[in-house]
Amino acid sequence: MTWDPAAVPNAHGKTVVVTGANAGVGYFASEQLAAAGAHVVLACRSPERAEAAVSAIRRRVPGASVGATPLDVADAGSVTEAADALLQRERVDVLLLNAGIVHPPADRAVDARGNELVLSTNVLGHFQLTALAFPVLERTPGARIVTLGSLATLLSRFPVDDLQLDGSYNSWNAYAQSKIAAQVLGFELDRRLRAAGKDIASVVVHPGYSTSGRTPGIRGVNQPSKAKRFADNLQAAWTQGKDHGAWVPVRAALDPEVRGGDFLGPRWVTKGAPARALATRTSRDRTVGARVWELLEEYTGQRFTVAP
Ligand SMILES: NC(=O)c1ccc[n+]([C@@H]2O[C@H](COP(=O)([O-])OP(=O)(O)OC[C@H]3O[C@@H](n4cnc5c(N)ncnc54)[C@H](OP(=O)(O)O)[C@@H]3O)[C@@H](O)[C@H]2O)c1
Repeated sequence: MTWDPAAVPNAHGKTVVVTGANAGVGYFASEQLAAAGAHVVLACRSPERAEAAVSAIRRRVPGASVGATPLDVADAGSVTEAADALLQRERVDVLLLNAGIVHPPADRAVDARGNELVLSTNVLGHFQLTALAFPVLERTPGARIVTLGSLATLLSRFPVDDLQLDGSYNSWNAYAQSKIAAQVLGFELDRRLRAAGKDIASVVVHPGYSTSGRTPGIRGVNQPSKAKRFADNLQAAWTQGKDHGAWVPVRAALDPEVRGGDFLGPRWVTKGAPARALATRTSRDRTVGARVWELLEEYTGQRFTVAP
């Protein structure tokens, strides 16, 4: 199973929706998918940043088919509206669940429903979006849901009944636990899709260690300071640009050999071309998966039944 990021399959006719697509991995995945011929929908919370990203893709990929839709994944009302917009579409071949807080606040914050903000952004909004937009995935043959996990999942415990981090919050815990929960959700979704006999694959990926200071500069999308470039370049031996990190979700979206339940990451763990990777045992644990699903339904107030 090898993959050349410079020679991806033609994606004409496919519609891809990318959350948090105005910057970082999400932007570069969108650009690469547009270059492959897909119609790409950038689901972003800021109309200005979305427009800058759409313009950048049009500039850099002549003939790109690209548009934007408003989505703040930490706002349940916005998620509902975005799902309604997706349901108007004839097809959604790939739902790329990328948006995330990668540098959580030092102090615990909550969304309008009282859910811890990093969990809300990195997991709850995507759970609700997938549940509400599910019918359009069901009517798209061979649809894929791609979830962004992280190497951080290797480095943290996962006290499943403390997802809201009440009394145990720190920014590292918040990030690591949200990413473990995201991976758990991706694999639990795969089991439920298989059990229901759905023609939809849930794939989990991580982009290694990808920094903006090692990423091409693009107006309105990636403009790191000189100091940031200098600091990030000191770590060049084990890091890569977010344009390379994006290779992994692009492969998950387009490789015909990828299957539901696969886990992909860079070949050299933190960097490199995408390859199969090993997910933590916790991420794939059925009991943990069932419990997390139950909690996500409770926190979002959103039932999500994958019926045969
Ligand atoms: N970079 C890495 O090394 C790395 C490693 C492991 C996993 N990941 C995962 O990869 C994904 C992308 O990371 P990145 O490094 O590309 O991060 P990034 O450069 O900070 O980009 C994050 C994107 O998510 C969007 N976002 C944040 N909160 C949002 C919200 N409430 N609603 C909608 N969009 C929101 C941001 O939009 P705004 O511009 O509006 O803030 C931005 O477009 C994340 O899920 C991250 O956990 C990254």
